Amino acid sequence: MNSVSRESKNNKNRREFLKNGMVAAGAATLGTGLLASGAPVLAEQEKERSGKLPRGDAAILRFLAAAEILETDLWVQYNELGGIQDNEVPGGSGSPLYTAALQVLDGDMSQYIHDNTEDEFTHETFINAYLASKGADIVDLEPFRTLPGSTATGSSGKPRLTNLMKLTVDTSWWTRYRSRTQNPDFGDTFPQAVPSLAVGQHPAIPRSDADLSPSNHLQAIANTAGFHFATIEQGGTSLYPSLAQRVSSSEVLQIVLSIGGTEAMHFQTWHDKAGNAPPLTDPSDSTLVFPDLNASPFGGEDFQTNLIMPEPTIFLSKSLPACSIIRPTNTTGAATGALNFLTAMGLFIRQSGAFFAFLRELAEDADAARREGER
Ligand SMILES: [Fe+2]
Ligand SMILES: [Fe+2]
Repeated sequence: MNSVSRESKNNKNRREFLKNGMVAAGAATLGTGLLASGAPVLAEQEKERSGKLPRGDAAILRFLAAAEILETDLWVQYNELGGIQDNEVPGGSGSPLYTAALQVLDGDMSQYIHDNTEDEFTHETFINAYLASKGADIVDLEPFRTLPGSTATGSSGKPRLTNLMKLTVDTSWWTRYRSRTQNPDFGDTFPQAVPSLAVGQHPAIPRSDADLSPSNHLQAIANTAGFHFATIEQGGTSLYPSLAQRVSSSEVLQIVLSIGGTEAMHFQTWHDKAGNAPPLTDPSDSTLVFPDLNASPFGGEDFQTNLIMPEPTIFLSKSLPACSIIRPTNTTGAATGALNFLTAMGLFIRQSGAFFAFLRELAEDADAARREGER
């Protein structure tokens, strides 16, 4: 695409977004832009500032900052109810019954939830601070913090950016990472580990205290969370190496590689815990079934719960030997793909049109980035 026409389209969208965003989000946003580096972004501003960074690098970091802000928001909701509320990760006061249901998957779940939440805070804060240190515009999604969260005892009750109470959780990563012959970068698709989670809308946190019983209903909610944790983190595990291929500055590459590795560490942990989710049918929703993944018709290498390290598979060319790798890592449309993935999961149910327009533009700008010297 011609870069000039692309920029003029973006400028038009940006102006429309800023106008609509302010209307949608009300007085709280007046005088503040959603991209800011000290000074607010004004409607007449030509385009986002990249400061000393290559333009594509700034766009990639801004999309990642947005993704990290959204990750933080969802992890905070989990931590308020099922993690450890302390001065490292403040907010909420815990739901003892939900926490206990999560601990069925692993006695250390609360600590892991707390640590994953803290990690996302630092990713978000670091990337925005780095952008600002280079004179580039940063990302602020606070005007979109409008969604109601859980009213269960233990929730802070503050408005949210993301929805965790109507999730459609894609669990095909389970079989994707167990396949020895297929790779999504070759167009392959993979069966679900928990087919009923991939359809319908399911709570991953207690929506209110009414969800605290019967106990198998609450366990189904905790199981949903257990799979959702890994679904989110495998997304980050692919997103960073996918976008790293478009980075120009070695320092930005260092940032993307270093943060991306921690997403893989999160995913690996959650992959292990999801396999401990007890088989059950939700007594409040008989369509939601957590199968025994080690028994027929599941079982075998494609489902076995302790196969949590990536099986080697095809990579780059089928003529090359199989390799244990993160997948997918195709770079084309990676940011837009990540946004579509999060949207399809229901994470943004009830978000505004301005929210989607803003996120889509950040994603498109990141996907338009090219390594310097490459076209
Ligand atoms: Fe992160
Ligand atoms: Fe993460």
